[in-house]
Amino acid sequence: MPKETAQARAVRSFFAGGISQAGAVAICRGLSCELNGAAALQERLAATGPTVRVDCFGLCDHSPALRTREGEVLSGAAALAFAGCAASTRFDEPAGIRCLARRPIVTERIMRGSHHDLAVARRAGVYSALAKALQAAPGSVLAMIERSGEQGRGGAGYPTAAKWRACLAAADPRRFVVANGDEGDAGSFIDRVLLEEDPHAVLEGMALSALAVGASEGVVFIRAEYPRAQARMNRAIAEAREAGLLGPAVLGHGFAFDVRVVGGHGSYVCGEETALLNAIENKRGEVRVRPPYPTQAGLYGQPTVVNNIETLVNVPWIVREGPEAYRSLGVAAAPGTKAFCLARGFARPGIVEAEFGLELRGLIEQHAGGGRNGQPLAAVALGGPMGSILTPAEWDVPLEPAALGQRGIRLGHAGLVPIPEAADLRALLLNWAQFMALESCGKCVPCSLGSRRAVELVGRIDQGNHDEWQREFTQLLATIEGTSLCGFGQGLPQPLLKLATLARAQVAGGQLHG
Ligand SMILES: Cc1cc2nc3c(=O)[nH]c(=O)nc-3n(C[C@H](O)[C@H](O)[C@H](O)COP(=O)(O)O)c2cc1C
Ligand code: SF4
Repeated sequence: MPKETAQARAVRSFFAGGISQAGAVAICRGLSCELNGAAALQERLAATGPTVRVDCFGLCDHSPALRTREGEVLSGAAALAFAGCAASTRFDEPAGIRCLARRPIVTERIMRGSHHDLAVARRAGVYSALAKALQAAPGSVLAMIERSGEQGRGGAGYPTAAKWRACLAAADPRRFVVANGDEGDAGSFIDRVLLEEDPHAVLEGMALSALAVGASEGVVFIRAEYPRAQARMNRAIAEAREAGLLGPAVLGHGFAFDVRVVGGHGSYVCGEETALLNAIENKRGEVRVRPPYPTQAGLYGQPTVVNNIETLVNVPWIVREGPEAYRSLGVAAAPGTKAFCLARGFARPGIVEAEFGLELRGLIEQHAGGGRNGQPLAAVALGGPMGSILTPAEWDVPLEPAALGQRGIRLGHAGLVPIPEAADLRALLLNWAQFMALESCGKCVPCSLGSRRAVELVGRIDQGNHDEWQREFTQLLATIEGTSLCGFGQGLPQPLLKLATLARAQVAGGQLHG
């Protein structure tokens, strides 16, 4: 047998475990599944063979979810039946996809059904923006995106045009466009739905981005937990090539652009753009030190634009309808709409597209219908593990980055998971801390060692002197937050601290407060 090189071993060991573990049932332990019985499900299945923890399958409106040993992903009633507990649990189907905005953008087509087939997509107008842009003057796409004021939907809210302009200004002519389909935030699933049901819109957004920045190569990075999205995107690429929408002369013009899919291996941090570039390059999925930014030295050291899937699906709409139409939606500081994902546990889970500026309380109480079966909520988790935990007293806030930022609230990918008052908050806190320890990429000490210490501390939340525990936990998290290299270590401490406060109040039998 050939000897494994040290580099190959380093990469294999980085991605070992979790979803990469063959022959085990993979149980989603993401926040929504955790609140819907995932721990008990795993315990039950562990009696029949090996199981592994996965965060997460992006099926949060259908929780719980699992992947069988044969590779089939099941959720809701099917997952419960697989584990032999269907009879005891009633399962309500999610409310689906709805739009509250005056005009839909990203849900425009998926509300009406799947458009993964090229003929269906083209009849609905996909690729018409690309055809229009190929006739227009060079620079017009970038100018339109600049006037629209679009900001990235991947969490940081960075202006799309500024990123593209930086890439365009780079000297090297070999440039890449990368679509970030890693969507690891528990509670968020819009990118999965877009990749599965509207993959040609993602390709059109990428082609427009490539046209704007002078790139001819594209990569769609899709997490391992989304096998259906990978299959749909591969098929869409083949169809688009066949139809001359990708390739050496897109739509017969002198514009060459082609795309390939690269699958992830089950690492949350590979959603961070530089870790993602390393994963595409078959390296360990560790975060790179920035600068240089990907727009200067990204994939294989070349200038690269990395954009989120939802960000890219906004682009053709802007080019087709015009930047003014885009700016007429949302608020001045955040034009357009956002797809909010509502997890199971709300009365009406699913996807709601709304204009930026919608009040959080209205979204939770009116549109999501509050807790399922009238269950009172202790809080909602907004924006995944690096987002915010908000108690009912904090829900009177418009959902737009500036207003949220003033209050220290992070929107992330805008997934919302309801946390019922009856939930075991200590178990949830432990799950969250374990997630951090499992997923830390190991590049910097405060995050990789600090997260393990946090797990130990959470394990004895109810022991010894409470004030001492609080002091040690707070100090530890402040150190991780202040000294970690990337958004993972910087972002997880705040929700962990908030959850610890709520959990401790629950343990002490006290009143829950923010
Ligand atoms: C730990 C971590 C995980 C991330 N995961 C994702 C992800 O799954 N999808 C995504 O689009 N952005 C993710 N991001 C943000 C990306 O680094 C990057 O900002 C984004 O893809 C840029 O796209 P945008 O400008 O269109 O928002 C993550 C960031 C961090 C720090
Ligand atoms: S903060 Fe954590 S995830 Fe980010 S680079 Fe450091 S070890 Fe890796």
